[in-house]
Amino acid sequence: MVTTLYRPEPSLVREGEPVDRGSSPRRAALRLRDGDTLFVTDAWHTALVVLRALREVLGEPPRGADFPTRNAARRAWLDASARLFVPVVDHQVALSGAPHLHFLAELYPELDRFGLPFVASLDLFNAWKKYADGVHLAVLGHRIHPFYGTYAPTRTSHLELFGTWLAQDSGPRGRAVDVGTGSGVLALMLCRAGFAEVLATDISPNAVRSVEREIARHDPPPPITTRQADLLQGVEGLFDRIVFNPPWVQGVVESPLDRALVFDGDLFERFFEQALARLAPDGRVVLVFSNVIELVQPDVGHPIAAELARGRFREVQVLRRRVQGTLTPDGKKRRTREKVEVWELARA
Ligand SMILES: C[S@@+](CC[C@H](N)C(=O)[O-])C[C@H]1O[C@@H](n2cnc3c(N)ncnc32)[C@H](O)[C@@H]1O
Repeated sequence: MVTTLYRPEPSLVREGEPVDRGSSPRRAALRLRDGDTLFVTDAWHTALVVLRALREVLGEPPRGADFPTRNAARRAWLDASARLFVPVVDHQVALSGAPHLHFLAELYPELDRFGLPFVASLDLFNAWKKYADGVHLAVLGHRIHPFYGTYAPTRTSHLELFGTWLAQDSGPRGRAVDVGTGSGVLALMLCRAGFAEVLATDISPNAVRSVEREIARHDPPPPITTRQADLLQGVEGLFDRIVFNPPWVQGVVESPLDRALVFDGDLFERFFEQALARLAPDGRVVLVFSNVIELVQPDVGHPIAAELARGRFREVQVLRRRVQGTLTPDGKKRRTREKVEVWELARA
């Protein structure tokens, strides 16, 4: 069962100073910066202009600024931009020129009048485009359609490496679980590799909805069942393969969406504890990971190496592949020391 979908917080009190095309965008931006709440009353374009003015008013942190400075600038932007609201009536943004935000009806079925931060409306718009157009993944040979608020891969070298591991894995193709399935890509790869039964879990109800939609798009449907769960909590039976592509760096989880990218607390300890209880005697735990944690957070410690040191699992193999550097704006290749990794572990 899926609990309430994650959605941008609606504002039921539609108060705030009105802004329209007659208002000074700069003055509106200064008021947002200083803590006022504003409501756009006429056009989508007005909201865009005010947001642009806010960018100018807040400015960018200086080039090469340290992390706290960049973080403070990001926080100031997030706080101030979230104070610019647009009205929603009957599941539409009630402004001239506003695009149709298809997710509104599904995310707010019980509300017909409320306010929404304009930046959240932009997120919903961009999320809909991604959902409708889909994201083509060569490792699957088709597009996936991530539902609003669901992590979808933007780079693919880790998926290709997982595909390499999967192709050379000669173990049983019985039951597998994809923990933290996101938009379901690893679960779908497991099905393509011939697993008879794949369970896809995620703590995010939006991810579970996304994978359920994905399953329904295929004929015949892949043998995936979904479950909203914190890791493997409440999951029964044993698995031949327990697969997890966790967040790769430690961070502060402020919104459910952050859980896709950063981990906090004892996520890895709990995962290994639960995986040990659910692993078939000859089963394997397979983690898709990266050395980025060693590069950017050398003080945190490698969570998989830490688990191996406890002696409950043994390393069967680790595959590593260098990540292609991205291009700089002037077309030069950015060098990177980043490598993606696939860790295959067995019970010790
Ligand atoms: C890096 S994303 C990977 C998504 C997908 N498996 C992929 O490879 O594209 C991590 C996923 O783990 C999920 N997640 C984070 N913490 C979780 C937890 N405690 N229990 C279950 N899923 C969790 C997030 O919601 C997110 O979908």
